Amino acid sequence: MSNQKIVIGSDHAGINLKNKLIAHLKDLDVSVFDAGTYSSEPCDYPVIAKEVANLIVQNEYDKGILICGTGVGMSIAANKVKGVRAAVVSDTCSAKMSRLHNNANILCLGERIVGEELAKDITDIWLSTEFLEGRHLKRVNMLEN
Ligand code: RB5
Repeated sequence: MSNQKIVIGSDHAGINLKNKLIAHLKDLDVSVFDAGTYSSEPCDYPVIAKEVANLIVQNEYDKGILICGTGVGMSIAANKVKGVRAAVVSDTCSAKMSRLHNNANILCLGERIVGEELAKDITDIWLSTEFLEGRHLKRVNMLEN
């Protein structure tokens, strides 16, 4: 997990959880770039989602994390960018499966939905689970065509 380069972003409704996850990832020696927002001033989640999504498809970072109030807006926005597979997750099983079967490259979380400790568990599982490939590769490739 510590050999990955992560980019993380949030809107104002996700900034507290974003800051907690950044501290958590740094404790684990994970390299993490904070793409904003940097204050609790209201801002528009599609702007941050697009920035993080573009960094992922340009291979600047291995994986991305996006946080808003629910995670839903961020996932809708990020999935508009070709090559992004953003999964909004609020349980550890879905976190694992979104990597194993879907090769999700962006994790979306809702600060108003998941508590800090669950968010940390979801993030750790998501970052440390590898895509299974095999029969799932064909299906994931179909998403791009
Ligand atoms: C902001 O109030 C909220 O709408 C946003 O963070 C997000 O939850 C949208 O999906």
